Amino acid sequence: MTIDLAALPHDFLWGTATSAYQIEGAVAEDGRSPSIWDTFAHTPGKTAGGDHGDVACDHYHRWREDIALMRQLGVGAYRLSIAWPRIVPGGDGPANPKGLAFYDELVDGLLQAGITPSVTLYHWDLPQVLQDRGGWPERATAEHFASYASVVAERLGDRVTHWATLNEPLCSAWIGHLEGTMAPGLRDLTAAVRASYHLLLGHGLATRAIRAAAPDAQVGIVNNLSTIHPATDRPEDIAAAHRMDGHTNRWWLDPIHGRGFPTDMREVYGVELPERPDDLETIAAPLDWLGLNYYFPQTVADDPTGPAPHARPVRRAGVPRTGMDWEIDPTGIETLLLRLTDDYGARRLYVTENGSAYPDVVRPDGTVDDPERQDYLLHHLTACASAARRGAPLAGYFAWSLLDNFEWAYGYAKRFGLIHVDYATQRRTIKGSGHRYAEIIRAHGVRARRAA
Ligand code: FCB
Repeated sequence: MTIDLAALPHDFLWGTATSAYQIEGAVAEDGRSPSIWDTFAHTPGKTAGGDHGDVACDHYHRWREDIALMRQLGVGAYRLSIAWPRIVPGGDGPANPKGLAFYDELVDGLLQAGITPSVTLYHWDLPQVLQDRGGWPERATAEHFASYASVVAERLGDRVTHWATLNEPLCSAWIGHLEGTMAPGLRDLTAAVRASYHLLLGHGLATRAIRAAAPDAQVGIVNNLSTIHPATDRPEDIAAAHRMDGHTNRWWLDPIHGRGFPTDMREVYGVELPERPDDLETIAAPLDWLGLNYYFPQTVADDPTGPAPHARPVRRAGVPRTGMDWEIDPTGIETLLLRLTDDYGARRLYVTENGSAYPDVVRPDGTVDDPERQDYLLHHLTACASAARRGAPLAGYFAWSLLDNFEWAYGYAKRFGLIHVDYATQRRTIKGSGHRYAEIIRAHGVRARRAA
């Protein structure tokens, strides 16, 4: 397949993404305290094969090698997350100099390699000590998050301009507190709704804290959104799809755009929000950019007796799927980029994650051939270019992921990397998709230079 990316701007940021707990390992080193993911992963039955992030990709020790691999791919940007339990092991209180030093060196290493760091402050690894005090359902957690954000921004803000507060608060709130298949593993609607509120409050407070510490900061938030389709054209299913859209998309987008929490969803949840005066204004702090993580569309049917939002996922037959069993639909990324542009007035957008898992193997000749992932990449990039052509202010794309890594409850069984990791030896091998991505980046650069 040839790919037409002419609509993407010349200074388009080509990146890859990871997160701290999924790659770093070194969970007990240099003063890091346990996070809720250490606890969850070490609880029997919570992750596939009992996998955990104790060693993961050992990136904490191998980051120089990983930067060298990024240079081989030719990426211009790298989205990483900071582990809160390394920076403030007590959850609140004093910062840990060794934790800060690690990211300090990593950022310098990236900049020396000509790679722009894009820093996410929270990718789900809440210090366990804060969970012990109630976690995100408690307002104090949002306040501690802002203090932690301020510590990090003060330290890195002279070199890092690209900041995200939260990664996918939907997963923290709904999957972590309602469905229970991610940390902290609760199944409690009240806790989930309160967590969602405090996550967004924490986002607003942290946005303010970052700007105070680093006036040049470009601040955004990363949401995972989905296109939602009704299973049939029955009015009940159409209403269910609207509720699922509220649950997945509007609940997260409306408040940060100053529209408050959607009234229909407040009724669906029937949980009182822990609101205080001025919170909505804090949550709607002006942002420089929005991040979209896109993986798959959803089809739902009415489910009046099921849990909120009373919409049951329906598995469509005969559609292509990745190794996660996630449906493949590149039009979804275009639809969502245009929705953020047209309905929410986005002025700058990044695709902060997009990618696919397949059961890759290293062949006897030492290569990894992953044609399905290459297809997924090409089709989604083409859809991104199409969104840009239709007016979406798309400024960059971060492929998930740089490396195969700890895929949360799925453990190491699911491989999303452009680079294969042999966990027994920590040997890295650039996959076919990684080489393909490098070619795409190079070709786009050549075109940009010609046009300049
Ligand atoms: C997203 C997460 C990321 C990774 C991908 C596959 O929801 O942000 O950490 O697990 O899914």
